[in-house]
Amino acid sequence: MTDTSPPRTNTPYSRANPFPARITENRLLTLPGSEKETRHIVVDIAGSGISYQVGDSLGVFARNPPEVVEEMLRALGFSGEETASVQGQQAPLREILSRQFVLNRPTKKFVRALAEKLPPGESRDRLQALCQSEPDLDAYLHGKDYVDILQAYPGVSFGVDELLGLLGRALPRLYSIASAPAIHPEAVHLTVAVVRFRSNGREKLGHASGYLARLQPTEPHQLPVYVQPAKHFRLPEDPAASLIMVGPGTGVAPFRAFLQQRSALGHTGKNWLFFGEQHRATDFFYEEEFLEFHRKGVLSRLDTAFSRDQAHKVYVQHRMLEHGGTLWAWLQEGAHIYVCGDAHRMAKDVHQALIEIAQRFGGLSPEEAAHYVNVTLAKEEKRYHKDVY
Ligand SMILES: Cc1cc2nc3c(=O)[nH]c(=O)nc-3n(C[C@H](O)[C@H](O)[C@H](O)COP(=O)(O)OP(=O)(O)OC[C@H]3O[C@@H](n4cnc5c(N)ncnc54)[C@H](O)[C@@H]3O)c2cc1C
Ligand SMILES: NC(=O)c1ccc[n+]([C@@H]2O[C@H](COP(=O)([O-])OP(=O)(O)OC[C@H]3O[C@@H](n4cnc5c(N)ncnc54)[C@H](OP(=O)(O)O)[C@@H]3O)[C@@H](O)[C@H]2O)c1
Repeated sequence: MTDTSPPRTNTPYSRANPFPARITENRLLTLPGSEKETRHIVVDIAGSGISYQVGDSLGVFARNPPEVVEEMLRALGFSGEETASVQGQQAPLREILSRQFVLNRPTKKFVRALAEKLPPGESRDRLQALCQSEPDLDAYLHGKDYVDILQAYPGVSFGVDELLGLLGRALPRLYSIASAPAIHPEAVHLTVAVVRFRSNGREKLGHASGYLARLQPTEPHQLPVYVQPAKHFRLPEDPAASLIMVGPGTGVAPFRAFLQQRSALGHTGKNWLFFGEQHRATDFFYEEEFLEFHRKGVLSRLDTAFSRDQAHKVYVQHRMLEHGGTLWAWLQEGAHIYVCGDAHRMAKDVHQALIEIAQRFGGLSPEEAAHYVNVTLAKEEKRYHKDVY
């Protein structure tokens, strides 16, 4: 059987008109002692008419933390009841700040406007000098929010429209869907790594991951969501095709969905998962589920790389190289390879590891190996798929 998810046609909901969903579950995947906070979140889409396919992502519109909105209003001398208008829609300033703008990452134009408004003196000279240098301004802004800056330079006032013209608009964030429609047609599961850190003596939260982390299923809320279809990150049409899935950290999310879907639809192709995180004891997300898939034979192979459980770093690409002969054999038999997660370092290193495997185990020259991975696998045969961020 192939992927038989229904087409996404009978819903009025989209990015422009998101569905006001509710979450029904929000639990930690990381265990006490972990250096991370990664959560399993279940979003209820019943009654929306929304359908999804494995490989898709969910777009989420977040709100700023109420205490940050209040601190910002106070620092600016607003009550929050002032009428504000964005794209022709009028609402109290408190509401507009809460939903429409990002408050954890100040814009450079805001800092420059603030510097212009400061009374002549040392403070103003210092901030204006900072604004002349992009690297200095970047370094100054790192980890700061508007409240940090307004507290450092108090007493400056802005008009409502002037202020809104200086802030950055809030955009939806995408999260890979970690559930399969064959099993959960009316729910979307997410695996969310929460951005949470301290700077300037205050706790900072990621705009969307911080909002999701604090949402409680039992409290009244609405989470505007839409499905962002994947362009190429799809299961192969052939149910007998084998999959190699490389998903460290939150990159494992779509592979949980792939395994659920393939298992439910009885796909016969072999499945091999490479998962990596910091520590086995605290960060093996969905451990029981993956071990169960392994016991049932849905996962033919499960290789893990816990980077901080030994003196030297062990990453997924090291495991791929250790099993390079078998991985090469799978590729020669027509397996598709999928990579999901960190784009900055992991995906590049995994790419290099694939080229190395083609050399070491396929006997190809460096040029032939690069051509095999970049052209043959990725472009001609379309068996190398990436969803990295
Ligand atoms: C297709 C796609 C799929 C994705 N899937 C997932 C997924 O399944 N799970 C997942 O968790 N994410 C996923 N992401 C990433 C997700 O969309 C968000 O980018 C992520 O959650 C961070 O967004 P945020 O709004 O919480 O943080 P933001 O408010 O955007 O803040 C993040 C920024 O905070 C800053 N920052 C972080 N730590 C510190 C620090 N210690 N000091 C100073 N500054 C710091 C960094 O500049 C960082 O870029 C995906 C992205 C894409 C494009
Ligand atoms: N962590 C967060 O708070 C957070 C929150 C939101 C989004 N993000 C972003 O989302 C992406 C995924 O983050 P995540 O928290 O799911 O996991 P991650 O940061 O990608 O870490 C998962 C595992 O990958 C390892 N790793 C680090 N560098 C690697 C490399 N070059 N090759 C292979 N593995 C490598 C990590 O090891 P070590 O850590 O031991 O090096 C860890 O064991 C990243 O782009 C990250 O910046 C992170």
